[in-house]
Amino acid sequence: MDSPMLNQLFRQLFRHPACQSFRRPPASLSRQTRTFLTRRTPGKRKPQDDAMLWTKRGDYPKNIEEEYKLYPTVTAKELRNRRERPRQVKMLTREFVDDSLYNPHYGYFSKHATIFSPGEPFDFNNIEDGPAFHRLLGQRYTEFEDLLDEVKPDVARQLWHTPTELFRPYYGETIARYLVSNYKLTLYPYHDLIIYEMGAGNGTMMLNILDFIRDTDYEVYQRTKFKIIEISPALADLQMKNLMDTLNFKGHRDRVEIVNRSIFDWDTYVHSPCFFLALEVFDNFSHDTIRYDSKTELPQQGGVLIDADGEFHEFYNTRLDPVAARFLRVRQAAARRPYPSPLGPRVLRGLRSAPPFGSSHSLPEYIPTRLMQFFDVLNQYFPAHRLVSSDFSSLPDAVPGLNAPVVQTRYQRQTVPVSTPFVHQGYFDIFFPTDFNVVEDVYRAVTGKLTQVTSHEDFVNRWAYIEDTETRNGENPLLSWYKNASMLMTV
Ligand SMILES: C[S@@+](CC[C@H](N)C(=O)[O-])C[C@H]1O[C@@H](n2cnc3c(N)ncnc32)[C@H](O)[C@@H]1O
Repeated sequence: MDSPMLNQLFRQLFRHPACQSFRRPPASLSRQTRTFLTRRTPGKRKPQDDAMLWTKRGDYPKNIEEEYKLYPTVTAKELRNRRERPRQVKMLTREFVDDSLYNPHYGYFSKHATIFSPGEPFDFNNIEDGPAFHRLLGQRYTEFEDLLDEVKPDVARQLWHTPTELFRPYYGETIARYLVSNYKLTLYPYHDLIIYEMGAGNGTMMLNILDFIRDTDYEVYQRTKFKIIEISPALADLQMKNLMDTLNFKGHRDRVEIVNRSIFDWDTYVHSPCFFLALEVFDNFSHDTIRYDSKTELPQQGGVLIDADGEFHEFYNTRLDPVAARFLRVRQAAARRPYPSPLGPRVLRGLRSAPPFGSSHSLPEYIPTRLMQFFDVLNQYFPAHRLVSSDFSSLPDAVPGLNAPVVQTRYQRQTVPVSTPFVHQGYFDIFFPTDFNVVEDVYRAVTGKLTQVTSHEDFVNRWAYIEDTETRNGENPLLSWYKNASMLMTV
């Protein structure tokens, strides 16, 4: 990373008062266990009657009314061909997050992002206990990065780990057991086993599933097709390289197709029954922000204005765009149980003006509008799909708000968390928890399919050979490390 960029990154990090007191987490390992910051300073708001209400973070509030009127509203799609981060524009929160993560030129996924691979699988049965596994993982992490730095040093490398990689091949085999059992129960012998995987990382899940099916059920293997839909060109290349490097390349080659495309650009109708895997992909699907007027409880939709100096100014609008409005309608109609509100429980609302007490509006709620649109894609193009998805059900140390994301970057191998998603585009991972109760209802409403939600632990207990990942003292990190993850499946 060149130094003007570095200056820019730290200018952004330190621009917000809340970010000044960040602590470095003790270990920069876990993507979902981070030590985080103090609260964001309450925004300064200028009350007014019209639809736009603005919030400027920082010590020198600037009236943005004029800019708000003048600047065009742009979407992430419209910015795709731009090499420079936009200025003098305004964007809805979901469009800003999308641009920040996925812009092909400066987006987070277009550079730096690397998924850790342990090389040799861990020999859990010969590791003393959970802490010993943690230490060993730390060592392998360092070795992995040392090797990458020898080829191409990168102080801003973003490194994640996923259960697919840490527990290879056992987690892949667990998913494969679920797929083959359900395929044999309901589709075999009339249909082939067709598996789509959206967001396949290093391609490890694909390899582990194909190896397992070939080794355990050759007849099914001969009828298996595995198709990856991957947004990142670098990861799509790596998936192909890892496939070609495997000893089993010859056998697998004719079964695999890798499509380098965002799921949101998908336009091919797939009439065949298929399984659709989405493992740790929902968390990066962008969200809209909604806050509620404490008196009227009416929603306002959030966005960000980027001024001529590249400063971010958060605003809210009493007019909702059609996508956010539809989400709120669908959720309301589909909910089988009460869902949380940033206004707090309904029964308590009369007793106080609003949380935080006395404030004229609630904290923001982050609503999963892109996830709803993903369900539209499934419904429209994959009518006979069966979804198998897994993601974080909660995330510690998120930015303030309901269902709020964790926003963090990595610099010189240290995790640097911040307290707002409105930071220099492309340098920060922005990942959200999934409220599986709400999302299950929305999925059912959009696709008309029946579902099951289980904890990651219950799923693994049911489908894994858990002795494979047991340490010598009987601890089992595959069960204990993902307490905050759940699975949503079509039944
Ligand atoms: C956190 S990684 C998970 C990788 C893998 N599933 C695993 O568990 O190891 C997220 C993956 O989703 C991909 N991805 C994110 N958004 C996507 C989209 N809109 N369409 C297709 N792939 C996407 C990323 O490039 C990456 O491969």
